[in-house]
Amino acid sequence: MNYAEIREALTKDHSSKFKFERWIIEEEANIICNEIKDYPTLYESGTANGFSSYYFSRVISGLVHTFDPVNRPKIWDFLELDRSRIKYYDTPFGASANGVMTVLKKNDLKAFFIDGDHAYENVSRDWIVIRPFLTSKDIVIFHDALGVGGVKKFLGELENTGTVEIRLLSDNPRRGIVTVKLK
Ligand SMILES: C[S@@+](CC[C@H](N)C(=O)[O-])C[C@H]1O[C@@H](n2cnc3c(N)ncnc32)[C@H](O)[C@@H]1O
Repeated sequence: MNYAEIREALTKDHSSKFKFERWIIEEEANIICNEIKDYPTLYESGTANGFSSYYFSRVISGLVHTFDPVNRPKIWDFLELDRSRIKYYDTPFGASANGVMTVLKKNDLKAFFIDGDHAYENVSRDWIVIRPFLTSKDIVIFHDALGVGGVKKFLGELENTGTVEIRLLSDNPRRGIVTVKLK
């Protein structure tokens, strides 16, 4: 199912279960898919209803590992979508006991999508947790890089360290998507 088909199916029935405004929009989904399509594994902070996880699982050849401590209804259950390449964890991405670091492997080629808690402290934490596992081949994508929360502040500080290359993929001022790669 593509974005329009999912939207139509959810709007027809039970739409109150699903909050579309929390999801990446179709244009963003396509931009991100184009960036990640050659990566075998993706790790995501912020599953919400599973829209971005599902969309990414269609282009990632391996697994999408997605984390969200709030276990909301998932579109793959409701619409009976193929979820064979999605692994959902009902824990915070940055949790030390059962967060992303328990499944990360340094030498695997991997992509990240950071779209969890957008507060400065939490975005920083998401980065601090994955940083030891990153190589210059991996890609980290941040959503809302220009908009709400502390993402913009965090990325400004990260850029000032001179250790990363940051590329703007989408410049919607209320949202914004960037990629970050180690230099
Ligand atoms: C903007 S929504 C994610 C939207 C989703 N990526 C999409 O486009 O379909 C942000 C989500 O982050 C979750 N969240 C909050 N704190 C988190 C954390 N520490 N780790 C992972 N997810 C978190 C929230 O519960 C919320 O569902």
